[in-house]
Amino acid sequence: MSESAQPATPVAFPPAFLWGAATSAYQIEGAVRKGGRTPSIWDTFSHTPGKTADGDHGDIAVDHYHRYREDVALMAELGLTAYRFSVSWSRVQPTGRGPAVQVGLDFYRRLVDELLAKGIKPAVTLYHWDLPQELEDAGGWPERDTAYRFAEYAQIVGEALGDRVEQWITLNEPWCSAFLGYGSGVHAPGRTDPVAALRAAHHLNLAHGLGTAALRSVMPPLNQVAVSLNSSVIRPISQRPADLAAARQIDDLANGIFHGPLLHGAYPATLLAATSTVTDWSYVLDGDLRAIQQPLDALGLNYYTPTLVSAADGVPDGPGADGHGASSFSPWPGADDVAFHQTPGERTEMGWTVDPTGLHELIMRYVQEAPGLPLYITENGAAYEDKVDADGRVHDPERITYLHGHLAAVHRAITDGADVRGYYLWSLMDNFEWAYGYAKRFGMVHVDYGTLERTPKSSAHWYGEVARTGALPGVPTV
Ligand code: FCB
Repeated sequence: MSESAQPATPVAFPPAFLWGAATSAYQIEGAVRKGGRTPSIWDTFSHTPGKTADGDHGDIAVDHYHRYREDVALMAELGLTAYRFSVSWSRVQPTGRGPAVQVGLDFYRRLVDELLAKGIKPAVTLYHWDLPQELEDAGGWPERDTAYRFAEYAQIVGEALGDRVEQWITLNEPWCSAFLGYGSGVHAPGRTDPVAALRAAHHLNLAHGLGTAALRSVMPPLNQVAVSLNSSVIRPISQRPADLAAARQIDDLANGIFHGPLLHGAYPATLLAATSTVTDWSYVLDGDLRAIQQPLDALGLNYYTPTLVSAADGVPDGPGADGHGASSFSPWPGADDVAFHQTPGERTEMGWTVDPTGLHELIMRYVQEAPGLPLYITENGAAYEDKVDADGRVHDPERITYLHGHLAAVHRAITDGADVRGYYLWSLMDNFEWAYGYAKRFGMVHVDYGTLERTPKSSAHWYGEVARTGALPGVPTV
């Protein structure tokens, strides 16, 4: 049957599909010195001159720590059924080791209770990039001990919240932690050492495995443990063998380095070979791969834009080499002969090309890579230059178009057999966008950084309607 002869695409999602929004602790909480919280690497980094746009930091952020009730009420009014947030490690275990601080845990208990009371399902991310500074001072993720510390922390939070939170995510985007934190240095702690980046990647994998086991040892068996990967959709610029090889190399460094050990119990042989001039991988000890490959209950996928690569052939890198900020250091160890290009098409304020086909492709890849594993889109969204109009409203039609296209891609993947169980829009509200500070607005709720007033944008009303009806309005073109 030809495209045009097809009946109108059904746009209803499965009835149990979760309609959520996502945030992370350092990006929204503020209250950085409350209740004995100590600095994380992001406190230190953002207070280091020149590291973030305008020297922005998360000291106050959007003050969610004090306004969480209002924020949960807003989610409920909009009609959301799920919320993904992260726990600040240094709020619950200030030095990254030792006993838990109950005041810190109490904040998250109150937040979870508030969500449950409003019928919103919480999903807890244990680590969204904010390592306690003391652990960085002891060597950070390149050191093995950090993985053991993470397992201990996971157990503490699992014991405190496991009775009321079913959905758990160990790590958010370990690629960013390892390669932007220790490779290109655009993220905290800002180191630029390719070997440290690869060591960090392994210890993050190990932390996931040990953390998963620790969570399961203290939680009810029906709770689900997942990890959120920013698995990249890597596309070669042409079918030339050199470009295909470049795409494979970046795919190993972006994806295989995590889903290899997590899903298949081994690092890809091609990754080990391509990085052999950089590292000997001697920090992968006997038993590590077994410890990492814990059975997962679900996989979280974060998607924003595809990555277009070619063999270098003297072509200079375009934007998009690492997505979260410019650096003269590469986040791709051993891939000096690969060039990055801007995918053609419309772009968001981040300069990221809008391409919902990438989300469909990503989901279908994991249908092959991990058959039968439930999937969640744990982040997807866009930054635009949103302004409050004279009528006090914020109109963001571009974001609605973005969301419409990407939700249609998710729907198409479900129709194609993928078991996608939920979608978390990044982000609930405008917040501290890492190295970009407050300059980039990803929220469906606008935040006035002077008054901290929250105003749902038109996309929030649109998304709320989708959540309430469980269906996309109109037939989108993907
Ligand atoms: C993701 C991060 C999230 C936010 C979005 C835009 O990589 O997980 O915190 O920065 O990008």
